[in-house]
Amino acid sequence: MARMPIVAGNWKMHKTIAEARDLVNALKPQVADATGVEVVVCPPYTALAAVREAVAGSQIALGAQDVFWKEKGAYTSQVAPGMLTDAGCRYVIIGHSESRGRFGVPEPEMTEALLRWFGETDESVNRKTKAALAAGLIPIVCVGETLDERRAGQADAVIAGQVERGLAGLSAAQVAGMVIAYEPVWAIGTGETCDTPEANRICGVIRSVVARVFGAEAAEAVRIQYGGSVKPGNARELFSQPEIDGGLVGGAALEADSFAQIVKAAL
Ligand code: 13P
Repeated sequence: MARMPIVAGNWKMHKTIAEARDLVNALKPQVADATGVEVVVCPPYTALAAVREAVAGSQIALGAQDVFWKEKGAYTSQVAPGMLTDAGCRYVIIGHSESRGRFGVPEPEMTEALLRWFGETDESVNRKTKAALAAGLIPIVCVGETLDERRAGQADAVIAGQVERGLAGLSAAQVAGMVIAYEPVWAIGTGETCDTPEANRICGVIRSVVARVFGAEAAEAVRIQYGGSVKPGNARELFSQPEIDGGLVGGAALEADSFAQIVKAAL
């Protein structure tokens, strides 16, 4: 069975409530006919409620950018899976490289200690993924290698390890229903895109890890996105690859026209 492509906008730390509403209102009519692709927007927490209202009645789904694995408790600053479903979220991004403290664009003011403070590990990704699934959310689990890892010939092994540890203990059915995003860290926010054949190859590596650990059916069903400088000009070529089932879009998702063009490129 063909996999439904999924294009998600990760707004990161952008947009006030009013700006978020404006963006979605401009986006809605542009993607109204794009019924062959799942469209997701992931605003910051502060704009979730407003965006939920704005997307009501459209086929645009709501997602969050992170989640904690506990249901409730003394975890200042954290947001529980049930709070996200309560806020109308269907999707949640987990393990983004920026949450893992791995940035595509070097941050000169960020010391090693500050980067570690972001604190995501494969184990926290695993806990968050299990908790999200238990709450009925669809996780978008991000994996990807740094430039140093790629240069050292370790990209495949790094990604395989992230997939195995991040998804450890899930059932085949859970994996079949989720989304994995391949985001090479060096291509995020840099304007550098991974070569299309290489992006397709790595998504195939991810699918083969899923096949080995969870079986052929899960591998056939799981949707694997590419993310990292996806733009209107390169989206169609990327999304036409057999292993790539849409994209996770940062900068180009902050503007309705460019995001709509990217959504349509997945049709
Ligand atoms: P850019 O599209 O800005 O490179 O960001 C990609 C990304 O990190 C999406 O999660």
